[in-house]
Amino acid sequence: MFDLPQPKDDGLYIPRRPVGEWSRHKHYFLQRYIDAFTTAMKGKRWKGLHYIDLFAGPGIVRLRDSGELDWGSALIAAQAPNAFDGLHFCELSKRAAKALQARLDRIVGKSRFTVLQGDANQKVHQSVAEIPPQTLSLAFLDPYGLHLNYETVQVLSARRVDFIVFFPDHLDALRNCKYVYRNTPNSNLDRFLGPEVNWHSALNAAPQTKWAEVLRKLYCGQIRRLGYTKFESERICVKGRPLYLLIFCSQHPVAAKLWRGVSSKKPDDQRTFDFNARG
Ligand SMILES: C[S@@+](CC[C@H](N)C(=O)[O-])C[C@H]1O[C@@H](n2cnc3c(N)ncnc32)[C@H](O)[C@@H]1O
Repeated sequence: MFDLPQPKDDGLYIPRRPVGEWSRHKHYFLQRYIDAFTTAMKGKRWKGLHYIDLFAGPGIVRLRDSGELDWGSALIAAQAPNAFDGLHFCELSKRAAKALQARLDRIVGKSRFTVLQGDANQKVHQSVAEIPPQTLSLAFLDPYGLHLNYETVQVLSARRVDFIVFFPDHLDALRNCKYVYRNTPNSNLDRFLGPEVNWHSALNAAPQTKWAEVLRKLYCGQIRRLGYTKFESERICVKGRPLYLLIFCSQHPVAAKLWRGVSSKKPDDQRTFDFNARG
């Protein structure tokens, strides 16, 4: 994994809303995958490598427990040593988008990135239009809750894009499905899973201990409809409590193998044995 200097308070906006240690795990896997992806795919048959981050944040975050500053996903990607040819960001908050733009201006050449301010689920068309054909992209889709619409992933899939999706199953879906999403037409969970998914009856048919698994399979089934065939997932827990999944989706076995290699080494330095690894 590449090294980054410790971020400093640069006088720009850093949200007061503290981010927990669990976001550090997310960034750990993202940074390792970006390193592996840009190293392995550079100079291959693609006409460029692009990075898409539609819930980009301001680029620097503050960790809840320690108060330390940490790089956000956008500036991790922007500082990869094997640089992406294009970086495409979107962020809803005006303050965060402005701070990200200013930080990128200092770090990256102006022609290499765009920051759109607005709702990712609407701006996605603009983002896709920026991606040249015959390029390979990595999209990191990381809202706070179930705010990523299935249609947004569908729009991105018009280009050759691998996804890392934040799936807040325990943090949001399972916490809210009984009392909020079950009684809300076109709920966040409905929009996240997309059309023609009857999650109500799928959950009714399974014991509650299996609900997270049922939702993951429903989601991967939906992404499969877009032509994706390779799925990997990383469970993120804090103090033994499951919080969310990072779901990796690709159309290519090489990318899935890269993800398995990257995710076999955990943030606490424990290696897991990959029983599914092939060749
Ligand atoms: C969990 S934070 C992720 C930040 C960033 N990916 C990182 O890891 O540093 C989610 C971000 O998405 C933004 N956001 C929330 N809803 C959004 C939407 N509909 N469209 C675009 N951004 C949104 C929030 O303002 C916040 O900055």
